[in-house]
Amino acid sequence: MNYENKKTVEDIDVAGKRVLVRCDFNVPFDAQGNIADPKRIDEAMKTIRYLVDHKAKVILCSHLGRPKGEFNMKYSLAPVAAYLSEKLGQEVKMAKDVIGESAKSIAASLQPGEVELIENVRFHKEEEKNDPAFAKELASLAEIYVNDAFGTAHRAHASTAGVADYLPAVCGYLIQKEISIMGGALNNPKRPFVAILGGAKVSDKIGVINNLLEKCDTIIIGGGMAYTFMKALGYSVGDSICETDKVELAKDMMTKAKEKGVNFLIPEDNVVAQEYDANAAHKTIPSDTIPDGWMGLDIGPKTRDKFAAAIKGAGTVVWNGPMGVSEWENFAAGTIAVAKAVAESGAISIIGGGDSAAAVEKLGFADKMTHISTGGGASLEFLEGLDLPGIACLNDK
Ligand code: 3PG
Repeated sequence: MNYENKKTVEDIDVAGKRVLVRCDFNVPFDAQGNIADPKRIDEAMKTIRYLVDHKAKVILCSHLGRPKGEFNMKYSLAPVAAYLSEKLGQEVKMAKDVIGESAKSIAASLQPGEVELIENVRFHKEEEKNDPAFAKELASLAEIYVNDAFGTAHRAHASTAGVADYLPAVCGYLIQKEISIMGGALNNPKRPFVAILGGAKVSDKIGVINNLLEKCDTIIIGGGMAYTFMKALGYSVGDSICETDKVELAKDMMTKAKEKGVNFLIPEDNVVAQEYDANAAHKTIPSDTIPDGWMGLDIGPKTRDKFAAAIKGAGTVVWNGPMGVSEWENFAAGTIAVAKAVAESGAISIIGGGDSAAAVEKLGFADKMTHISTGGGASLEFLEGLDLPGIACLNDK
């Protein structure tokens, strides 16, 4: 998908105007109710600061969690307002509602350069239904709409897409960065272009594999989904996770890869255990002989070397999904080896959000990557070549 022509905050005069900014402040919280990882908020700061510096009256909005259309203070954005106030060095005025008296009166009284945060847009069931009346009401708070919520850009909701029917609509710096880096990789990759795909299920990645088969030189398959491909090759996979209804599809994908001259790599050996447990006793065995009662939980050392060799010398690497159960030390070696190979490759390296981003961050390779996407589902859909409603709705230059 090519969104390079979308207008940005720099293409519109924001001074003195009320600007509704959709962010993705859907951040994790710890047991004490503190923000556990503020990355998504930090990534939104560039746009917010630009708008403050250019004297806009800034009205921020976001969802948090899945409150199912009801007010539930467990999902209040108040802690985000406190974090933002500290980061910005000025008060971010927290509204008590979304389109009610509080949100409206704060919006109407904002002075240029001031910032308001309205409550969780998912406190209204109309948000996820993209209800036009709700979108219009939300839009009536402002004169300009800026979408900077890349993580939610795959959702056609009122605050991510519907409001664009009623206001001039542009993207913020985060969306601009995500689409220029990921779009650049997909549309004009520096070659060789290597995709690394992992995670539990083939069914989550069918669209991505099909799209990348048209674009990549090499596709590397690891994680739980690799066992469906091994089964397709006639290997015994024991008790490993395997989607039997996707075996034929896996065969077709490998045939297609051969026809297109795409190097399609699956694991040669695996670290296996008899229980799905962090401390389970484990051993390494070849991919074609996993006995019943044993399950693969990571790629083995031969596979690590084979994958690392394919990554070395890549021009562009896109990675989505861990190679094994990377949150457990005994089964993290495959993901660590791949992260290290990507970090050392010198390639343009793009990490899809979600599990792979978390693994790269936890394992300490984050600062070695060109780009870690803030979108889990959104980055997958982007890699699938699907239209993202939250970006498609924005005005072209
Ligand atoms: C995410 O965390 O992937 C986004 O914020 C979207 O959240 P959702 O899956 O609840 O729509």
